[in-house]
Amino acid sequence: MPLRAEGLGKTFRSARGAAVRALDGIDLSIAPGEFVSILGPSGCGKSTLLAILAGLDKATQGAAVVGGKPVTAPLVDAGVMFQRDLLLDWHTCEDNILMQFKMRGQPTAPHRDRARELLALVGMESAAQRYPRELSGGMRQRVAICRALVHEPPLLFLDEPFGALDALTRENLNTELAALTAHSGATVVFVTHGIDEAVFLGDRAVVMSARPGRIIADVRIDLPHPRGAHIRELPEFTAYTARLRKLLAHDGRPDHREGVRP
Ligand SMILES: Nc1ncnc2c1ncn2[C@@H]1O[C@H](COP(=O)(O)OP(=O)(O)O)[C@@H](O)[C@H]1O
Ligand SMILES: [Mg+2]
Repeated sequence: MPLRAEGLGKTFRSARGAAVRALDGIDLSIAPGEFVSILGPSGCGKSTLLAILAGLDKATQGAAVVGGKPVTAPLVDAGVMFQRDLLLDWHTCEDNILMQFKMRGQPTAPHRDRARELLALVGMESAAQRYPRELSGGMRQRVAICRALVHEPPLLFLDEPFGALDALTRENLNTELAALTAHSGATVVFVTHGIDEAVFLGDRAVVMSARPGRIIADVRIDLPHPRGAHIRELPEFTAYTARLRKLLAHDGRPDHREGVRP
């Protein structure tokens, strides 16, 4: 499903009436099936942008447009995943995944096999009947991925889903996510602090400036598919991460050294 932000801006009002400009003039167009990584410093409005695209918050300027229609309410056919996994501790892993259907008032039985299949894909088949509190952080994130994907959403919004995990678990989950999304053909917006995973997963990496968040670069990641662990060994991979690191360090601020004569 195609996705667009058109001159999108957001100003928050604090309780005392002070204005916080979080986003400014965001123009972004995402093609069906594209995987777009979003990088930017803390507080630059990444989560706000994702929430507006998913219909969970409202823009104060411009609009989000999904499938040709302005977004005015939470998108029911989107999958959303946050840094905190938000699993329900009193349900088994399988029931947490099937919550997608319960929430929508649909029967869960026809989807039980698919839930198990997804758990197997992320190496968690034995956890179907276990409770989230019995699992490590990495295992919980795996269950959360399954929950975000089980209803086969054409749109997937991921907000730093692997931020709290150790490096190796994160790389393994990156590989699994690449395989799962390539297979489903979903359009994905992936917010991350990790330059490596932005390149590893993305067809594009969009870099935002410090608040108010603006887009300062939109880099096409021309690496081959399918993306497996070998991708990280390519010299092009390193070239992309170096380029993005530089863009982020610069942060969109004017370079104050310019114009200073030695
Ligand atoms: N509900 C809110 N009310 C007021 N300010 C907010 C609210 N949500 C976010 N902000 C502010 O907007 C800015 C962007 O926040 P956020 O989108 O969470 O940034 P990021 O995800 O890039 O770290 C921050 O300065 C944050 O404090
Ligand atoms: Mg955030």
